[in-house]
Amino acid sequence: MERAGLLRFWDSSVGKKVVMGATGLILVAFVILHMAGNLQFFSGSERFNAYSHLLQVDLIELTWLMRITLLGAVVLHITAAYQLTMRNRAARPAGYVKREPQVSTYAARTMRWGGVYLLLFIPYHILHFTTGTLHPAFVRRAAYGNVVIGFQVMWVALFYLGAMAFLGLHLYHGAWAMFRTLGIARPSNDPLHRRLALAIAIIVPAGFSLLPLSVMLGFMH
Ligand code: HEM
Repeated sequence: MERAGLLRFWDSSVGKKVVMGATGLILVAFVILHMAGNLQFFSGSERFNAYSHLLQVDLIELTWLMRITLLGAVVLHITAAYQLTMRNRAARPAGYVKREPQVSTYAARTMRWGGVYLLLFIPYHILHFTTGTLHPAFVRRAAYGNVVIGFQVMWVALFYLGAMAFLGLHLYHGAWAMFRTLGIARPSNDPLHRRLALAIAIIVPAGFSLLPLSVMLGFMH
């Protein structure tokens, strides 16, 4: 697509939705991989620290590529979401007389606040476990101990669990909406894409939550 075509695409509402879906897909792939990697925590400190070492030292170029891709995806995802919201508001400033949105699951209604919570969570999380700036006893490349000590602070563990709840809701509605935007959805009472969205939305936050929960319950030292 030449430059003018790209700009026209970005300018259209469908274009912004496709950008949201495509960047959402990158972010979903990342959280699935990150959650699966985190389960190494239960293989003990040696395995978990070796995994962290692999990402932070041996594959650092790949880690940087991932960081840049994620940052780009998050910026585009949020910009498209913000602009679509503003466009919808401008199209109907007075609101519906009887406001009954077509899709009104709890997940759909929490997209914006859930998105804001996650937006606060991500920088906190990086300053907590990657740079250690907001960690009480951070040791570089000792990810296992950093996670155990990090989650021994009750409010921090609860903040993470809250983020995982919002992540689940966000993933559910987001994955479902993406299937519709990309035209994969077929009319049905119990469509496969809805079950797939539900499975991702439960498995990913549940897998992540095992870490703070296991530390809070005293299983991991
Ligand atoms: C209970 C949930 C989570 C735990 C225990 C966890 C744990 C960690 C740890 C230990 C690191 C540092 C790894 C290292 O030493 O290389 C890390 C990095 C990171 N995590 Fe998580 N994470 C969780 C959830 C999430 C979620 C939900 C997201 C995104 C929405 C996320 C995004 C990231 C990012 C972007 C990095 C930085 C990678 C880098 O730049 O090196 N994490 N996480």
